[in-house]
Amino acid sequence: MSASTLIVVRDETIAVHGGYTPDSTRAVAVPIYQTVAHDFVDAAHAGAVFDLETPGFHYNRINNPTVDVLERRMTSLEQGVGAVAVSSGAAAVRLSVRNLTGLGSNIVTTPQLYGATYTYFAAVLPSEGVEARFAADDTAEAIEALIDDNTKAVFCESIGNPAGNVVDIEAVADAAHRHGVPLIVDNTVATPLCLKPFVHGADIVIHSLTKFVGGHGTTLGGIVIDGGRFPWAEHPERFPMFSRPEPAFHGVVYARDFPDRPYAVRARTVGLRNEGATLAPLNAFLLLQGLESLSVRLERQQHNARLVAEHLAAQSRVSWVRYLGFDDNPYHLLARKYLGDRFPSIVTFGPAGGYDAAIHFFDSVKLFKRLVNMGDAKSLVAHPASTTHRQLDEAALAKADIPPEMIRLSVGLEHIDDIIEDIDQALDA
Ligand SMILES: Cc1ncc(COP(=O)(O)O)c(C=O)c1O
Repeated sequence: MSASTLIVVRDETIAVHGGYTPDSTRAVAVPIYQTVAHDFVDAAHAGAVFDLETPGFHYNRINNPTVDVLERRMTSLEQGVGAVAVSSGAAAVRLSVRNLTGLGSNIVTTPQLYGATYTYFAAVLPSEGVEARFAADDTAEAIEALIDDNTKAVFCESIGNPAGNVVDIEAVADAAHRHGVPLIVDNTVATPLCLKPFVHGADIVIHSLTKFVGGHGTTLGGIVIDGGRFPWAEHPERFPMFSRPEPAFHGVVYARDFPDRPYAVRARTVGLRNEGATLAPLNAFLLLQGLESLSVRLERQQHNARLVAEHLAAQSRVSWVRYLGFDDNPYHLLARKYLGDRFPSIVTFGPAGGYDAAIHFFDSVKLFKRLVNMGDAKSLVAHPASTTHRQLDEAALAKADIPPEMIRLSVGLEHIDDIIEDIDQALDA
């Protein structure tokens, strides 16, 4: 059997080869198509591409062959039916919600969210006429209690950043579906290699590709992936944008004309085309490079993270440690259900001495980089209360489950002894 006839089915293989068929040049790396547009054969061809009758590329705000490979590879890893890559994870959050909301509608969300997602929901969406309803906690019951006739989506992070909660996706999806509402899951922290939200009932999955997928702290990117299972056409009142002629794209009726993936097609032809949060081809290339080594990076980072968590838990200078792999973590059973034994390489802890001790630790590290990214090959430290979640007041911090003294470590690929020596010297300082 030649390599070209091998069926690419397993995640580690998809991450390296998925979505790419070399052209006649047989280039082994995905080519960077650094172009703004594509030459139409003639007017008939141009019309057919614009009408989405013929697959093809026209203008690179909307699609690009390098970005297309990334979209296909991520779709395949998540077991979805189509995807739209965008310029950042924040753009993915926005597109995922904008694609199905309008004036007077609402979304229901867990309170544990990444900081900019929280502020987008709490402070920006309302100015666009969309209310974000924050559930009291991340349980299906608390979420279901807030769903009404104007609810267009339930939103959650499969593993909250930085709270480290694990959402029971199956229960939350069931609750949303009972009301004819889809579930959007931000799967950034878990990565598609460790958790597949569509398998558990989610309808739309998004990622910040900036984190684990890119993996080297070089490139921003995001993606919105359509699971293809939500029955939009059965809810024309709630989701008129999929069942009525689309004024922003010459009267297409997405649920009728693209029944297998109406959400993804609308996200591209309305969201990306008109709002323009396009991912650059070079950035797609860099993210593809990261994706190729994701599986081995995760193994090492998760191994290092366990050793870091165990070390921290043994220190008298540390008041508490949150690590999903610990049996006594309140989310441990859910983590086992959704992740098996692949616990994320994010460890949070509270130094004894509270807020001031946390700032002191942050200021004292030498190997860890002080910044607000995660999933990098390098070990990173963040203090959420004074950075990513700075805009939250005390009550909102408590609801988001972020103690003021919380230090978040994103454990990298360095030698474990060097990582632990740095933690020790910063605690001693
Ligand atoms: C869970 C989660 N979603 C979305 C984002 C936003 O991603 P980006 O920084 O790529 O815009 C982040 C960023 O940290 C995140 O942690």
